Amino acid sequence: MAFGRGKVILLGEHGVVYGHPALAAGLGVGVHATATASTEDVIVARPWDVEARVGSDQPLALGLGAILEGMPADRPRVRVEVDVDLPGGAGLGCSAAIGVAVTGALDTLLGVERTAEERGDYSLRWERVFHGNPSGVDNAMAAVGGVALFRRGQPLQPVHVKKPLSLVIAHSGESSSTKEIVARVARQREAEPERVDEAFGAIAALVNNAKLAVEAGDLKALGQLFDLNQMLLAGLMLSTEKLEELCRVAREEGALGAKLTGAGAGGCMIALAKDEADAGRIRAELAKRSPLTLVAMAGA
Ligand code: MEV
Repeated sequence: MAFGRGKVILLGEHGVVYGHPALAAGLGVGVHATATASTEDVIVARPWDVEARVGSDQPLALGLGAILEGMPADRPRVRVEVDVDLPGGAGLGCSAAIGVAVTGALDTLLGVERTAEERGDYSLRWERVFHGNPSGVDNAMAAVGGVALFRRGQPLQPVHVKKPLSLVIAHSGESSSTKEIVARVARQREAEPERVDEAFGAIAALVNNAKLAVEAGDLKALGQLFDLNQMLLAGLMLSTEKLEELCRVAREEGALGAKLTGAGAGGCMIALAKDEADAGRIRAELAKRSPLTLVAMAGA
């Protein structure tokens, strides 16, 4: 059984597509996959009751086909089964987690050896089917986990977490397509390159400071950096009324900072709590307004 974990971007989404750094954390929940030899190449996704055969134009079949293209030529045909324990379109890296789990299951079946980081890179084949221009952060985190600084095309840099991060995640109830939102930001950047690049430059500075704050255990500073990142993302029109409401409620309940996470324009928000007990309280308040909430401990 292979596993691909979900992730949250702590700071730096979107800028990371253009080579800026992002700080991210792997989640304990994600996707499990198994692969067995079969008479046809097929992928079965249990939660959605989908069975997709390679050769059809179903997205999951295209994804599996892309992964199989780089596998040993003398391989048998395969049946891959995936169990997805993450919402899609939520900014939690569901698609990358599936890509990593499927790659891992096939590696095990076919005796292919890769490091976790190599698996993350390889699974970008899958991600490109679903997402036009992935930076690779979701796949790297899905494969490696922990808390890390990611920069496109560079090795993942693990970050030492001095004090565990108690994160509250709340879904806005609005689904968002990373592919569409990344394309929308690209159009904004084409129309106003200076303004958008300035925002990305400012976000990059926040990311670098956030790394230092995580290493120093300065949760208060990290929370403030979340809030500043949220303002810059809102300036790029990536927030929604619902995300703003969830951020506001989290702050009123004592969160040190709150922001959208992932592509935005829907999906989830994350709030940084002082500790696990506070996270539980903030979560209970958010649960009154959100269809899905969870607490994730990063670096514990
Ligand atoms: C998606 O989790 C994060 C984005 O920055 C896209 C990407 O990095 O590929 C919005």
